[in-house]
Amino acid sequence: LYSFAIIGCGKISWRHAALIAERGKLAAVCDIDKTRADEMADKFSAKAYYNAGEMFTIEKDLQVVSVCSPSGLHAQHSVLSLKNGCHVICEKPMAITSADCDWMMQAAKEADRHLFIVKQNRYNPPIVALHELTAKGKLGRILSVQLNCFWNRGPEYYKQSWRGDKELAGGTLYTQFSHFIDLLCWLFGSPKVVSAVSKNLLHQGVSEIDDEGVVLLEWENGAIGSIHYTVNSFSKNMEGSITVFGEHGTVKVGGEYLNTLEYQQIDDYVIPALNKGNLANQYGGYSGSMSNHDKVYDNVLAVLAGKEKVATSGLEGKSTVQLIEKIYNN
Ligand SMILES: NC(=O)c1ccc[n+]([C@@H]2O[C@H](COP(=O)([O-])OP(=O)(O)OC[C@H]3O[C@@H](n4cnc5c(N)ncnc54)[C@H](O)[C@@H]3O)[C@@H](O)[C@H]2O)c1
Repeated sequence: LYSFAIIGCGKISWRHAALIAERGKLAAVCDIDKTRADEMADKFSAKAYYNAGEMFTIEKDLQVVSVCSPSGLHAQHSVLSLKNGCHVICEKPMAITSADCDWMMQAAKEADRHLFIVKQNRYNPPIVALHELTAKGKLGRILSVQLNCFWNRGPEYYKQSWRGDKELAGGTLYTQFSHFIDLLCWLFGSPKVVSAVSKNLLHQGVSEIDDEGVVLLEWENGAIGSIHYTVNSFSKNMEGSITVFGEHGTVKVGGEYLNTLEYQQIDDYVIPALNKGNLANQYGGYSGSMSNHDKVYDNVLAVLAGKEKVATSGLEGKSTVQLIEKIYNN
């Protein structure tokens, strides 16, 4: 059994802890908030630490660390873990600057350890089907793509939290929608940013980052695309969707979190019935993406057993971060 640690015992970390406990041993957990670290340590019979550096000076047998701290700290926590000889599972976004992504990849290379980035939307059944279509070229030449991220995060979500903090969150495309942006790069390659506008319209005073934005994209092969994102969908999450117009087919994957195949019209082909997939992660008061972390952990263990390759590498994590960086710098 592999020996795991978690850095950052907040909302998403509980999902990690449960999956680790099913597959290995959660030996140590760390959070600067003592109550949070203690609570998780008690529940999983792990040792609690309140400082990541201290955890590594004492724990010498850790093999895998899951980094679940605020996004702006992913790089330093991942590098620290890699330097201490551990493989790293890093929550999305990989980091909030591409320079930090390079730092992490360099550390993984020097330590000869794996770096896994959580991109669980790739496992949503309709996204798996769409990827298969594009990989096989069944839609023909891709003409245009529309990504809609219409979610709701009210002021409470940002109050007394790092989530609206420029230094720790970076921007809404990192915090809420980086795994949606990942799909654009994964399915179609990295586009050029033609223009972008982002605004903070309803979260002044509680958040330093944007809550609305519109982006125009263009790919090297001439395909064009748009991203429309908001956390101001009234009162609840409305839609997470991607629509693809190809020369030989049109497909829309939608629902609240890219969970349903909403439309397909493909030359001489029909996507067969899909299984429903997992429900969205629930965080008490708000909901997120499809809960596919189990598949992320299955890949980690298969890679460590030498049976699979890393499903989402540092390089892929970086291409998402780079695209978001280009959008905000436009
Ligand atoms: N894949 C997904 O669907 C998904 C879902 C939610 C969150 N996330 C990502 O997971 C990360 C955490 O998000 P969350 O919603 O769980 O946040 P959270 O605020 O609930 O948890 C973060 C925890 O990190 C702790 N922390 C802060 N600084 C620390 C430090 N220096 N050392 C140790 N611990 C420290 C905080 O005290 C807090 O308990 C974010 O990067 C977020 O983008 C991913």
